[in-house]
Amino acid sequence: MTAEIISGKEVAKAIRAELAVEVAKLKEEHGVVPGLATVLVGENPASVSYVTAKNKASKELGMNSFQHTLPAETTEEDLLKLVDELNKNDDVNGILVQLPLPKHIDENKVLCAIDPDKDVDGFHPVNVGRLVIGEEIFPPCTPAGIQELIIRSNTPTSGAEVVVVGRSNIVGKPISIMMVQKKEGANATVTVCHTRTRDMAEHTKRADILIVAAGVPKAVTADMVKPGATVIDVGVNRVGEKPSKKDPNRMVALLEGDVDYEPVKEVAGKITPVPGGVGPMTITMLMRNTYRAAKLRV
Ligand code: GUN
Repeated sequence: MTAEIISGKEVAKAIRAELAVEVAKLKEEHGVVPGLATVLVGENPASVSYVTAKNKASKELGMNSFQHTLPAETTEEDLLKLVDELNKNDDVNGILVQLPLPKHIDENKVLCAIDPDKDVDGFHPVNVGRLVIGEEIFPPCTPAGIQELIIRSNTPTSGAEVVVVGRSNIVGKPISIMMVQKKEGANATVTVCHTRTRDMAEHTKRADILIVAAGVPKAVTADMVKPGATVIDVGVNRVGEKPSKKDPNRMVALLEGDVDYEPVKEVAGKITPVPGGVGPMTITMLMRNTYRAAKLRV
């Protein structure tokens, strides 16, 4: 059996079309244009490309985008000062500080400095707390995108065995909390695997829904997947370069997921590709959170 491909690109396109209508309505009815401020410190190539895509998406949806690009040597104090200015700026509804930050800056301190009502990443402890009790305003973007893909691909979740590989604050921990909630698109029995898990395959082979955010290329192989399972690959590993489709003289990153895609595709029931799976959904959920932040103010 070859798996059905869950196209994040297509689902994201549909949600963005719905969102563009809502953004236009907010402007027409309340004169409010949602504004997203992005803050990038340094020149990490993956971060540069994510932030560029986030700003482009804001503009395409008719939202304002305020881009702040700071040198890698920026002090923690200066970054906190900028966050404070953005907190006070009424044109800015959402603030996104791209992670990772340079080693000399305390990431947690910066995330805690963002006004929770502008924290469209959902990383502030107040928003993490809201998520845990099922009262979230800004669900973190990658987990929210994963859940949308599960729902919109008609994958049953109630009573399902969900196995998450990875326990990061950005993906593994929040998605495990979201899937266990007493809510539509959740109600699952959740297992979280990580680097100290004794026998990973013993768990993954039980999964009706397998969510892989390990940060290791091909961490999940075909023998670790239950036939018919829905496999969500969150990995974005830069394994080399390839010529760009648009301009063959330009090299672009060659991406690979955390799942050994071709063989797993023959075992799984549904699978997300890399690229074109979770990636476009993450940005779309950021746009949705920014719209929600603006709507909260009217
Ligand atoms: N770095 C990797 N993923 C993310 C994300 O979702 N938000 C931010 N701010 N940084 C990231």
